Amino acid sequence: MKIISVVGARPNFMKVAPIHRAIKKYSIQNLSTHRVLRTGRQDSSPEIQHLICHTGQHYDEKMSKVFFDDLELPKPDYYLGVGSGSHAEQTARVMIEFEKVLIKEQPDLVLVVGDVNSTIACSLTAKKLHIRVAHVEAGLRSFDMDMPEEVNRVLVDRISDYLFVTEKSGIENLKNEGVADSKVHFVGHVMIDSVVHYLPKAEKSNILNHYNLISNNFVLVTLHRPSNVDGEQQLRKLFNLLNHVAEKRKVVFPIHPRTKKYLEEFGMMNLLNNNIILTEPIGYIDFLALTKNAELILTDSGGIQEESTYLGVQCITLRTTTERPITVEIGTNQLLGSDLDKAKKAAMDILDGKKKNGQIPDKWDGRAAVRIVENILKG
Ligand code: UD1
Repeated sequence: MKIISVVGARPNFMKVAPIHRAIKKYSIQNLSTHRVLRTGRQDSSPEIQHLICHTGQHYDEKMSKVFFDDLELPKPDYYLGVGSGSHAEQTARVMIEFEKVLIKEQPDLVLVVGDVNSTIACSLTAKKLHIRVAHVEAGLRSFDMDMPEEVNRVLVDRISDYLFVTEKSGIENLKNEGVADSKVHFVGHVMIDSVVHYLPKAEKSNILNHYNLISNNFVLVTLHRPSNVDGEQQLRKLFNLLNHVAEKRKVVFPIHPRTKKYLEEFGMMNLLNNNIILTEPIGYIDFLALTKNAELILTDSGGIQEESTYLGVQCITLRTTTERPITVEIGTNQLLGSDLDKAKKAAMDILDGKKKNGQIPDKWDGRAAVRIVENILKG
């Protein structure tokens, strides 16, 4: 069986790494079974050839290469080099280049993760060539079609053959959309597989020393959603919030290129409180160390809501919707983007010691990738 996994943007790399590891482990076990059985009965387990295709949606060293190193991912078999552009340009360029790869390789399955433009571009291309598609992180819905990721999620799920779900809301959403139960597999979360696997490495990170931070005594911030950073008014409101928090604690803020561009454009770079440490985007292991040790995280990311819930770290999500409701229902996440005064109060409460208790969602146990491979092999 030949599988091509697609990575394109930063949040994809840590999701494909555990799948790659699970396939490699399966292949080694399969090889040894072959040896044991070589004189006896025929072994029917299929061999898996796993190729990785990087679309190049993210291309900066700090948004891409550093993740391959941190996650011990092999160099991609294909690099499409599509880069940035409008949604149509980026999606179309990925489709044109990926089609050539599919025609040459003729895989049995294309595996896509998450909800970025590369995810929809590659699944659509594969489906039109009658190649089966597996979507990892299926069924999540923010019900906000103004989010480009929501459009991607809905469309990818509609054409996928395997839908691998991370939390129970995903099963309900897919049922409501009429997806056949036989296609839906509740496997847990590959992103959490990576947290489990790389946590020991993150414990050895020097990043806290590097920025002179004390564990459980700083705030970590990430912001990059178009709805938060592309408009001057909203960005200013968020900066007031950050400046307020920075009066109480050191704030570490690794800046996404998109956010940096707008901060410069709106002339806001020098309005930041001196207690805010602005950094370049940070690699996976160091960022995991920051997440694990933060007293509070303010974010508009999807994945960080989940990582903080798994690690039991307080998180305020600066968005009006979340496609990952389990993190609010049972985790440490609070969704407070629609009222920034409320967000400010919640942040102050947390820094005063009023923490939200959280639990770890079902099947977030580090074994999601193994379940995915088992399901694919079952056919
Ligand atoms: C993309 C995903 C988003 C994900 C985010 C994580 C889509 C629709 N969005 O958003 O879901 O949460 O990645 O980071 O796929 N840029 C660089 N260097 C890079 C990459 C981007 O400078 O390596 C700049 C370019 O100016 C580009 C802008 O960032 O125009 C936005 O990049 P793009 O890939 O379009 O979307 P993201 O905002 O990164």
